[in-house]
Amino acid sequence: MSKQAILGDNLPPQLIEMMGDNLEVVEWSKNTDDAALAHCVGLIAFSHPTADGPLMDRMPNLKIISNHGVGVDHIDVAAATARNIPVGNTPGCLDASTADMTMALLLSVARNVLVGDRFARGPEFTFHDPSILIGQEVTGSTLGIVGMGRIGAQVARRAKGFEMKILYHNRNRCPELEGELGVQYVDFDELLSESDFVSLNCPLTTETTGLISTPQFQRMKRSAILLNMARGPVVDTDALVAALQCGEITAAGLDVTDPEPLPRNHPLLSLENVIVLPHLGSASNRTRQRMMEMTVENLLAGLEGDTLPYPVHSN
Ligand code: DGY
Repeated sequence: MSKQAILGDNLPPQLIEMMGDNLEVVEWSKNTDDAALAHCVGLIAFSHPTADGPLMDRMPNLKIISNHGVGVDHIDVAAATARNIPVGNTPGCLDASTADMTMALLLSVARNVLVGDRFARGPEFTFHDPSILIGQEVTGSTLGIVGMGRIGAQVARRAKGFEMKILYHNRNRCPELEGELGVQYVDFDELLSESDFVSLNCPLTTETTGLISTPQFQRMKRSAILLNMARGPVVDTDALVAALQCGEITAAGLDVTDPEPLPRNHPLLSLENVIVLPHLGSASNRTRQRMMEMTVENLLAGLEGDTLPYPVHSN
């Protein structure tokens, strides 16, 4: 029996192995030709490749789009739905690891972890000097969470352990979390002006694209630290560079950027008051294992014509 072809970008060997012996991978690049695309019955989006209507039109046999990750801003879900192609993702399993990384970035930026590491390795470190690299106190400070979904809620739980006052802004209020964790719903401007840390944990949508730009930086405290664990385009990159350069905010921790990756000579990469990570939010061993399993579960269900275990619904 000939193998069925799956289009995939940069798929790791473990994931390919999980797919079983009956499937073969067609490497997805901008040079993948029409004949190869037409042959594919499934598509796995691994590292945020764009899957749009024109691509789907070149794949007449496509039965399933399976995304490795929860955010599907790079997939035109409406175009897939219009073509009766189900889309699956990996919700839930990455909430804890992404919230852990939010706290890792928050603590690292606030307490100069990376700058301190570089200093400790350099020639200037000749004695313990209590007057250098004094960071911001995390315990008891105010955290503003933008996007109180599953990940935002996990961030709030962790922040509680640091005795932080937690403000949030979200499309809908979350009365249960308000009761359980004492988080306070505030309007967006108030969140910006009151928070010591502003943590972006929202999806990228038309409403959140460019959500943080010059007027928002002007509302934030000059001591504020911005954390972007969402998607790069939620923040206007040029406005962020300007805000960091002129001291409108103190620092930023970025798991994601726009563009991603940044050009190697981008001004953000030369600023000392920024930590940039290569999109590591969910990059922990157990989480990534589960993400691969869910990706394959969705793929196999779609190929069988079954309901996906983890479907994405078109808005
Ligand atoms: C997600 O799940 O959307 C993360 O960004 C990892 O891709």
